[in-house]
Amino acid sequence: MNDIGRRDFLVRTGLTLGATLLTGASSRALADQQPLQYRFTNWEDFRAQFPLSPQFIHLAAFFLASHPMPVREAIERHRAGLDSDPIGYWYEHEEKQEAQVLQAAADYLGVSPTDIALTDSTTMGLGLLYGGLALRKGQEILTTTHDHYSTETSLRLRAERTGATVRQIPLYRSIKTVSRDELVDSLRKGITPATRIVAVTWVHSSTGLKLPIHEMAQAIQSINRSRNEQDRVIFCVDGVHALGAEDFRLGELGCDFLIAGTHKWMFGPRGTGLVWGHPQAWPVVQAIIPTFNSRAFDQWVENGSSNNLPQSIYMTPGGFHSFEHRWALDEAFKLHQSIGKSRVTQRIYELNQQLKHGLAAMPHVTLHTPLSQDLSAGIVCFDVAGMEPRTVVKKLRQRGIVGSVTPYATQYARLAPSLLNSQQEIDITLGEIRNLRSS
Ligand SMILES: Cc1ncc(COP(=O)(O)O)c(C=O)c1O
Repeated sequence: MNDIGRRDFLVRTGLTLGATLLTGASSRALADQQPLQYRFTNWEDFRAQFPLSPQFIHLAAFFLASHPMPVREAIERHRAGLDSDPIGYWYEHEEKQEAQVLQAAADYLGVSPTDIALTDSTTMGLGLLYGGLALRKGQEILTTTHDHYSTETSLRLRAERTGATVRQIPLYRSIKTVSRDELVDSLRKGITPATRIVAVTWVHSSTGLKLPIHEMAQAIQSINRSRNEQDRVIFCVDGVHALGAEDFRLGELGCDFLIAGTHKWMFGPRGTGLVWGHPQAWPVVQAIIPTFNSRAFDQWVENGSSNNLPQSIYMTPGGFHSFEHRWALDEAFKLHQSIGKSRVTQRIYELNQQLKHGLAAMPHVTLHTPLSQDLSAGIVCFDVAGMEPRTVVKKLRQRGIVGSVTPYATQYARLAPSLLNSQQEIDITLGEIRNLRSS
């Protein structure tokens, strides 16, 4: 079979046709249904697209998405098709669906689909990227003391495996006085002639602080002007708490790589994510897991190898996935497009401002997230005097409010007003936090 591609093989042997004919009628009917088109009308209707328990005020939606109706419907459609005829449905849909997902992501991000690799999570993207970025002798990775476990551990594993130097710097002295200038300045000063890779997190899940990524990218670009291509600083951003919350066009942001899960603010299927790379930056990374992309696989069948496709393809790891989830991801991007990026960001800002101003006015509460929208997005971290963050979150849950504790060495109570919430819910939440004083 090494003189023909595997697709050819299946077509020639009639397996694709036979598989299609054998498909069960009812599953086929479900699998063939036209996708439902969501049209945004108002926030109450939007909230009704989610099967979230009405018993709770959900302020931890960023943790892991609940599937909205169009995503759920697409998952069920693909599941029915795969269950009734896994190989037939896969051959019929794999190329088309993956292209559709990439196109929807590209349209949303304002980039080319050939520059996007699909992953299963932020963590998978970070691990693959930080494990695979090439470093020459003497070059280092610069990162910060504010990053998530997944960035820090990916870098540590890389260092342990290859001996790469990883250096951590703080970007600010105190969250109370932090400014955009201080953040950009700290990064600029932290970069040395040896720095090849910069790894940061756009919105910190430890404090809710949002970095000025565009200004940081500009500072890096000005450093890069006096460097040759092999020494250029490659700017990598964990953007998981910005994607689906911030209003940006990726092509204009100025970073080299953006890594994100799409199962948090984007409301994509659980177990989905992406890595976007600038066309100039993709050649710097080498894949670790073999891709199952059809073109790459067919080239391997025909020639014994494949190396002339866009690098994003090789950075999309195989083997088989939970395809019903992956292939439903386009629906999440379309859902966001239907609302509009600026309306999404505006709504998240308004609800977060309401919560932060309410908390800031409470004498028994210390707010750890900057009030300014320039320095924060959708995550709010705080402390209640005399109470462990764990206890705060537990007590709030008993009162029907779902939050979380920051999973970092320094822990805070954390609430994240999102598109799933209303002003009234934030008012109720503030009332309950006010009452925590006396309970
Ligand atoms: C900043 C940040 N990066 C990465 C992750 C991990 O994301 P994922 O579950 O998509 O791997 C999280 C939270 O889970 C996070 O807060």
